[in-house]
Amino acid sequence: MRPTDDLREEHRAVKLMLKILDSICKDIEAGRDVKQEHLEKLIELMKIFVDKCHHTKEEAYLFPEMKKAGIPGAEELISSLLQEHKRGREHVSRIEEAVSGQEWDRADSAMVKNSRAYIQLLTLHIEKEDNELFPRADAYLTPGIQKELLESFEIIENEEIGAGKHEEFHMLLHDLKDIYLKP
Ligand SMILES: [Fe+2]
Ligand SMILES: [Fe+2]
Repeated sequence: MRPTDDLREEHRAVKLMLKILDSICKDIEAGRDVKQEHLEKLIELMKIFVDKCHHTKEEAYLFPEMKKAGIPGAEELISSLLQEHKRGREHVSRIEEAVSGQEWDRADSAMVKNSRAYIQLLTLHIEKEDNELFPRADAYLTPGIQKELLESFEIIENEEIGAGKHEEFHMLLHDLKDIYLKP
């Protein structure tokens, strides 16, 4: 397994989370029932799984190694990706504000607006990483560096989010999928 395989797998979970969020926005717009508790759980996913785990793997380990390796085009690409992580965090904090203030239950709420912007931002961001960044990492990073990256990723999972938490997040996504993504 390559470090980018681990990140691509997490991207699939993030994309599922974005689909659930999109469906929740549609429910809010249509006046259908959405539970505050489910929004709080989604926010935890955005903050812990997406930002603390996934983005930290990229920002603290993958990006610096790619810069160090002097990969053509990597510098500009990485600086745009870092900007996108930052904008994502801003959307999440506005979503959190709206949810904790219980001001999300309207079609024009800050929760719906920022969720839509977050979905659009992360969808393009993931495409950019999958198609432009990861192929460069696979081609240019040495097997030794790739092995070290995987070891660092494992440490992040255990130390930053805690053993077993990953599984818990996947189960949560599965449950929310059954509720909000009707076949
Ligand atoms: Fe990223
Ligand atoms: Fe990513």
